[in-house]
Amino acid sequence: MPSASGTPASRAHHAARASSLPADSVVPVTTPDDDQAGSHPILVGRKVTLRPGRPGDARKLRAILAEPSVSRWWAEPDPVEVIEEELRGDDSAVLLVVEIDGKVAGGIQYHEENDPMYRQAGIDIYLGGRFQGRGAGTEAVRLLARFLFEQRGHHRITIDPAAANEPAIRCYAKVGFRPVGVMRQYERGPDGTFHDGLLMDLLRDELTRA
Ligand SMILES: CC(C)(COP(=O)(O)OP(=O)(O)OC[C@H]1O[C@@H](n2cnc3c(N)ncnc32)[C@H](O)[C@@H]1OP(=O)(O)O)[C@@H](O)C(=O)NCCC(=O)NCCS
Repeated sequence: MPSASGTPASRAHHAARASSLPADSVVPVTTPDDDQAGSHPILVGRKVTLRPGRPGDARKLRAILAEPSVSRWWAEPDPVEVIEEELRGDDSAVLLVVEIDGKVAGGIQYHEENDPMYRQAGIDIYLGGRFQGRGAGTEAVRLLARFLFEQRGHHRITIDPAAANEPAIRCYAKVGFRPVGVMRQYERGPDGTFHDGLLMDLLRDELTRA
């Protein structure tokens, strides 16, 4: 969570300027004085910023989850209190806010399997309808994947869109994810029936550049 070390935006701005990487690079921004910075980073891209939650975010995220273009691929939106909890995170899962032009555009979540034998991470994402189809999802997933490889030390990341979710599959393929296989009748949709999911995975060297 944001701490006394300044607002996420001001910290991100400072760290982005301080970086020696080219201006259009995606830069994981963390500060050592923030207890949760290691798991709740601020990640700054060209179009999107991924940041920890702030008061009021959960209500906006719930409204986005209730939009038909999102809810058709996600379950019934959770109550605000549950989303607040997800923003706080726990040992294995963290929800970050996707911000575009200073607005809450959606949520992106990662979860970690920490059994050493199977250590890996997974990603989920949703954007509000007016933020879809502008390359923001591709950039957000790429930013988070880079963070998971470089800062969290993972070697493999999975993602599991509905097999019929063509924009999501295309978006993840652009980041470098490859189809592993169809998981038959994997998840229950809003219509109450089970539908297929596509398991996709990404190894460290396969992450594409922006
Ligand atoms: C899935 C999602 C994260 C993708 O993010 P996005 O910002 O909309 O996607 P991008 O603009 O980065 O890229 C989408 C790609 O899919 C393509 N695409 C869009 N509609 C498509 C369709 N019906 N069939 C095939 N490809 C399609 C786009 O053209 C683009 O590829 P291109 O850049 O090569 O043209 C976002 O649309 C979203 O949140 N959707 C609603 C919730 C959801 O489905 N979440 C994912 C659950 S796994």
